[in-house]
Amino acid sequence: MENITLAYGEATAIDGLSVTVEDGESLVLLGKSGCGKTSTMRCVAGLETPTRGRITIGDTVVFDSERGIRMAPNKRNVGMVFQSYAVWPHRTIFQNVAFPLQQQRLPKAEIRERVAEVLELVGLTDYAERGASLLSGGQMQRVALARSLVMRPSVLLLDEPLSNLDARLRDRLRVELRDIQQRLGLTCVYVTHDQSEALALADRIALMQGGRIVQIDRPERIYDAPSSAAIADFLGVSNIFPCDPGTTAPTGATATGTTTFRLTGHATEVTSAAPTPAGALTAPRACIRPEDIQLTPEPLTGANTWPGRVDVVSFQGSYVRYRVALKDGPDLDAIVPRRGTSLLGVGEPVWATADPAAIQVLPAEVTA
Ligand SMILES: Nc1ncnc2c1ncn2[C@@H]1O[C@H](COP(=O)(O)OP(=O)(O)OP(=O)(O)O)[C@@H](O)[C@H]1O
Ligand SMILES: [Mg+2]
Repeated sequence: MENITLAYGEATAIDGLSVTVEDGESLVLLGKSGCGKTSTMRCVAGLETPTRGRITIGDTVVFDSERGIRMAPNKRNVGMVFQSYAVWPHRTIFQNVAFPLQQQRLPKAEIRERVAEVLELVGLTDYAERGASLLSGGQMQRVALARSLVMRPSVLLLDEPLSNLDARLRDRLRVELRDIQQRLGLTCVYVTHDQSEALALADRIALMQGGRIVQIDRPERIYDAPSSAAIADFLGVSNIFPCDPGTTAPTGATATGTTTFRLTGHATEVTSAAPTPAGALTAPRACIRPEDIQLTPEPLTGANTWPGRVDVVSFQGSYVRYRVALKDGPDLDAIVPRRGTSLLGVGEPVWATADPAAIQVLPAEVTA
């Protein structure tokens, strides 16, 4: 996609978006509701006509506003799986999956072979003759996936395909989808607003905000180095605090390479060893992952040791989630592994601490 803009009347849904998806790559579009994810997919599929820009699939230009090219959706060889199942309830699974091939008037034997192949792939071989209305949500979504795969699309577009399913099924199908994508070398664009789904399914993640891509990188790179507090927030960094701008200036850096700054409206000081990006100097935010906070009932001294009191204890099985009200500061979220520790009680005094290397100072937002 090159410089794609899409406006619905006055409103701009996509704002000069450019991105290249490599052959066999799984690109995940991640972003808040209304940021333009579905609109982007609809442009690729040809269901929406961009105001401006060019879209190329393989060697074929499917849309070019300047040259007046607009290939019909059914000519683009794009597969689509959406949130709603879009499965015909009164047909069998075989009929559902075979439908697009019958439209192409392929020989019956070839249709049978190709349908069997994809049903095997999605684990529905034994269900071929079953009526689609008797399926569970997870099975229906597999049928929708099979129906897209049977076309052998050049690009597969998946728009929140798992969001109607319960958490456990979602977890399992996520791994199955990734497995199928990698085994077939499918080129995929996957839309979600669920960060763990994005991290699990992506070769690269594109973070969208206001119809633009504000950061694009491999999942581990985005996780380790989000370029703004808004992105960090999206990736589950629940401790995000505005800082007094003056205190983050590079002149505050000490010989050890750390920078100390004060949280706005509090006496709490925080020391970071991570380099402060230029954009963070005007609206700095201290970002600390809850996993990077340690809690101890013993008094501590030194940098990044904050006294407080346990406010909320939420037992999660392998870990415990605490909310701690800092004595001279904001509330802090901490995730502590369960193993080898005894549970802290509500109201108990604690000291929270964090390694300066785990603290990032980021700009509130980035404007691409
Ligand atoms: N048919 C339409 N007419 C007018 N505005 C629209 C239309 N479709 C989408 N929009 C607007 O365009 C913007 C982007 O919408 P889009 O559906 O692409 O968001 P999204 O990222 O997919 O959100 P969600 O996560 O909620 O599905 C939104 O502000 C939305 O209100
Ligand atoms: Mg959407």
